[in-house]
Amino acid sequence: MTAPQALAFDMYATLVDPIRIWKQLELHVPGEEALRIAQVWRQKQLEYTFRLTVMERYENFEWVTRRSLDYALDECGKELATSHRDALIAQYNDLERFPDVHEGLTALKALGHKMIVFSNGTPRMLEAIMDAAGLNQYFEGYVSVDEVRVYKPSPRVYRHVAERLGRPLDEVRLVSSNPFDDIGAEAVGMSAVWVDRSGGNFCRLGDRPDMVVGSLTELADLLASRTQPQLDLRR
Ligand code: LAC
Repeated sequence: MTAPQALAFDMYATLVDPIRIWKQLELHVPGEEALRIAQVWRQKQLEYTFRLTVMERYENFEWVTRRSLDYALDECGKELATSHRDALIAQYNDLERFPDVHEGLTALKALGHKMIVFSNGTPRMLEAIMDAAGLNQYFEGYVSVDEVRVYKPSPRVYRHVAERLGRPLDEVRLVSSNPFDDIGAEAVGMSAVWVDRSGGNFCRLGDRPDMVVGSLTELADLLASRTQPQLDLRR
C-alpha cells in the first residue's frame, strides 16, 4: 500500500479535446476540411511552443494559439473574417471535456490524491476553461507554465510544478495524453501516466511510462488497487 501521490493533470487533449473544435470550424468550411484545419492548428500550436523554447523566446499560449490558427487556415487555403477567428479563439476556452473526465476525477479525488492542473495555457485561459468545463470542483488550482515563461517539456516547468506542490519530484505523477509531456516529466525524475487517447502510438523518443491507461476512470481503478488496503473478507 502506498500513500497517494500528487497528481498534475495536463489540460489540452487530456481533460478537454482541442480537436473537437472542428465542429465550430464546420460553420465555415465542410467537415473534412474543418477537421484537417483543427489538426494542423493543434500540431502547429505545439510546434511553436517547442520552437520558441529552443529559441529561448517566450510568447504566451494565447499568442501561440492565435498564430497557429492563422497558419492552419492559410495552410488549408481558407480565408476567415477576424470576427470568426475571434469566435474560434473564444471557443478555445470552452472546449469539450472528454466523456470519462467527470467520473474519473471524482474517483481519483475520493482516493485522497492532491490534484492540480498543470498546463501550457495562460492563467486566463485555464481559469476560463476550468469554469466552462466545470473542473474547479476536482482541483486545488492550476499551475501555468506562464509563471516561468517557458514551455513543456523544458525541465524547468516540471521542477516548478513540484515546487508549487511542495513535493519532491518523485512524489508527483504527471497525467498526460501527450507523450512528449510524459517523457519530459520522467526525464527530471517525476513519474507519469500516459492517457492513451490516440490509439497506442507512443513517441519514439522515450519508453512508455509504467502506467498506461485508456481513460481517467481506468486510472482511478489502477491507483485504487495500489493505494487502498485490501478488504479482509474473513471478517
Ligand atoms: C498543455 C498542453 C501540452 O495543456 O496540452 O499543457
